[in-house]
Amino acid sequence: MDIKKESILILDFGGQYSQLIARRVRECHVYCELKPYTMTAEDIKKGGYCGIIFTGGPNSTYEEDAPKCDPQLFQLGLPVLGICYGAQMMAQMLGGKVRSSDTKEYGKTEIECNTSSLMFHAAKDKTVCWMSHTDYISEIPHGFKITAISEACPVAAMEDIKRRFFAVQFHPEVQHTQEGMLYLQNFLYNACGCTAEWQMTSFVTDTIQQLKKKIGDKKVLCALSGGVDSSVAALLVHKAVGQQLTCIFVDHGLLRKDEGDQVESVFRKQFDMNLIRVNAQERFLTRLAGVTEPEDKRKIIGEEFIRVFEEEAKKLGKVEFLCQGTIYPDVVESGVGEAAVIKSHHNVGGLPKDIGFEGLIEPLRDLFKDEVRQAGLALGIPDFLVFRQPFPGPGLAIRIMGDITAEKVAVLQEADAIMREEFINNGLDKCVNQYFAVLTGVKSVGVMGDGRTYENTIALRAVTTDDFMTADWARVPYDVLEKISNRIVNEVGDINRVVYDITSKPPATVEWE
Ligand code: XMP
Repeated sequence: MDIKKESILILDFGGQYSQLIARRVRECHVYCELKPYTMTAEDIKKGGYCGIIFTGGPNSTYEEDAPKCDPQLFQLGLPVLGICYGAQMMAQMLGGKVRSSDTKEYGKTEIECNTSSLMFHAAKDKTVCWMSHTDYISEIPHGFKITAISEACPVAAMEDIKRRFFAVQFHPEVQHTQEGMLYLQNFLYNACGCTAEWQMTSFVTDTIQQLKKKIGDKKVLCALSGGVDSSVAALLVHKAVGQQLTCIFVDHGLLRKDEGDQVESVFRKQFDMNLIRVNAQERFLTRLAGVTEPEDKRKIIGEEFIRVFEEEAKKLGKVEFLCQGTIYPDVVESGVGEAAVIKSHHNVGGLPKDIGFEGLIEPLRDLFKDEVRQAGLALGIPDFLVFRQPFPGPGLAIRIMGDITAEKVAVLQEADAIMREEFINNGLDKCVNQYFAVLTGVKSVGVMGDGRTYENTIALRAVTTDDFMTADWARVPYDVLEKISNRIVNEVGDINRVVYDITSKPPATVEWE
């Protein structure tokens, strides 16, 4: 099966839920691509899509330089669904009118819909959906019918069944829209004629076949970190070409306790991979000696990582391909605007493309994170790797405030291992998205036995989040915190105080550096 045979195009107008729309479409087992709204009708035609969705966006359609799609797009004969801003833009471009209202309609809103319309087929006629708008469609274009209303919104939905154009003022992709998935399915299956064939097992078998063809008898190199993305990417290539793949695992000595050994054991023993582990802690610590600035640490580790990788790669002679665990959110271009750089992220996947390879192999380029996990499970990667919490490329270096030494790394590894063990024992690993210990660099006075101590402070960080762009501190039960605190002070040397970080993101970030 060609996975892209049945593909939906999502044009991004800068809405905060754009990626969520794409995930929902894939949850309906339909493959989709998110592209900037500037894509031309000609390119869309070439893409062979079977339907188009317009996302929401922050603009007003009547602003002078408000983003607009290529008007020719409406001549392609493809079904179109406009959401929020996308709905208003569609209305305006096709001859309707959009107005600004004095009141904003925001949050859960009751709508009444016409269940004989295609969009609301088999839906309830009165239901709750999620609205977030000030502008509204005041006049529908010729050929359209109003199919839903709310108290404040005269056109909560409209459709032109002849041309298969649909528009909804609310957000069907958001969980609070009770029947949102049904509306999306109606659009995908009934308007676009999709057959819901996008499945993870077929993705895995298809990708392995495609990789076999692409790689032939050539060699591939992969930087393996033990993170889920690079693991799944490497394993797909391994299943395709076996020992033609060499994985280099640069252990910078800043991993969590025992992590290096676990990664080595899974890939060498369980999967019989051709794996080179480079134990480079000394080398990294030498370069990091005396460095205290977070950004400097990140840059040094990123550079040194590339250097070690290059040295090892050279030893292997000619290798034609580089395999990377790039995933869809890394490649997707946003429709509008640019984000400020808060931290220069380092990813082991982020190797320079000019180090002498003929080509790149990126088997996960089309997948979202949860889909990568499903692929990992389908490939037989153990749960502890597939569901591993995120771990930053620079590792513990950005969880040790101030300069880094081997002793500090060892202390933090012990404290962090205790925290993780207690989270798992108490089932918190299932509901807290990321949790770890930080060596704060603060010393304080304490008393142990009859003596004065002047020792280090460990901070515990635990957050709940959907996307790591924003996060809340996890409400961890006091008795679990107490147990972790007692154990750290008693079992790890040099620590006499444990604190819990109760800051959300923003204003803080998840990591301390
Ligand atoms: P912040 O600290 O920016 O972290 O709120 C958000 C998420 O990103 C992870 N993180 C990184 N991941 N390389 C990575 O691959 C990095 O350099 C990096 N820095 C932060 C962090 O652990 C959290 O999950």
